[in-house]
Amino acid sequence: MRRVLIAGNWKMNMLSADGTALAAAVAAGSGPQPSCDLLICPPATLLHAVLDTVGKTALPDRPVSVGGQDCHADASGAHTGDIAAEMLADLGCSHVIVGHSERRAGHGERDAEVRAKAEAAHRAGLVAIVCVGETEAERDAGQAHTVAAGQIEGSLPEGATATNTVVAYEPVWAIGTGKSATPDDVAGMHRHIRGLLPEADAMRILYGGSVKPGNAAELLALEDVDGALIGGASLKAEDFLAIAATAA
Ligand code: PGA
Repeated sequence: MRRVLIAGNWKMNMLSADGTALAAAVAAGSGPQPSCDLLICPPATLLHAVLDTVGKTALPDRPVSVGGQDCHADASGAHTGDIAAEMLADLGCSHVIVGHSERRAGHGERDAEVRAKAEAAHRAGLVAIVCVGETEAERDAGQAHTVAAGQIEGSLPEGATATNTVVAYEPVWAIGTGKSATPDDVAGMHRHIRGLLPEADAMRILYGGSVKPGNAAELLALEDVDGALIGGASLKAEDFLAIAATAA
């Protein structure tokens, strides 16, 4: 049985007052939903404050995990501005997102680098959330499944298990656009991806791309969808919790 994971990716949003208020509202409002795990990934500047807030606010039986949005492949060294997976673990993070399409597109990250980052996450004891997904042009060219397969093959490290790795399928054209993939497309892609994974029956595959309270139930009901990676809608506690409630 795969536990549903509802993960919020705050991206480069929130200053301290709003960020801690959002974390507190998520932690306080999460309620008893034992079948679903909650994770929030604030910007690095807020990790410490959010961990502190969540630690003080979350119900004992309803912990909210906190993760980073990226990490460097090395454990330390001359990498100005970067953050090591070990540093995230040291703060109390449990997860880190790697290979998000905004990093692949905006920072030129390729599969080999994403894979090295996922290895770093594992080395540090973090769960790596490895993102894959095709662009609109690739989908239009009928290459969506091939592209996702190539990214899975190139980005998932050798030691990936259902315990240390979560895959997030996020079609690039659906991120932040309000255009979600259709349930049929998502079902087909998640089935395809599951066939390529190690520990395939147990590894969680999240869907991401304009997930909102209005479409979450339909997407989360699909057999191979084990949760969601949520950008825009994770910035409002009410929406994030409404999505989590559909998974309960
Ligand atoms: P979105 O972002 O929910 O705003 O589309 C999802 C993501 O990038 O993880």
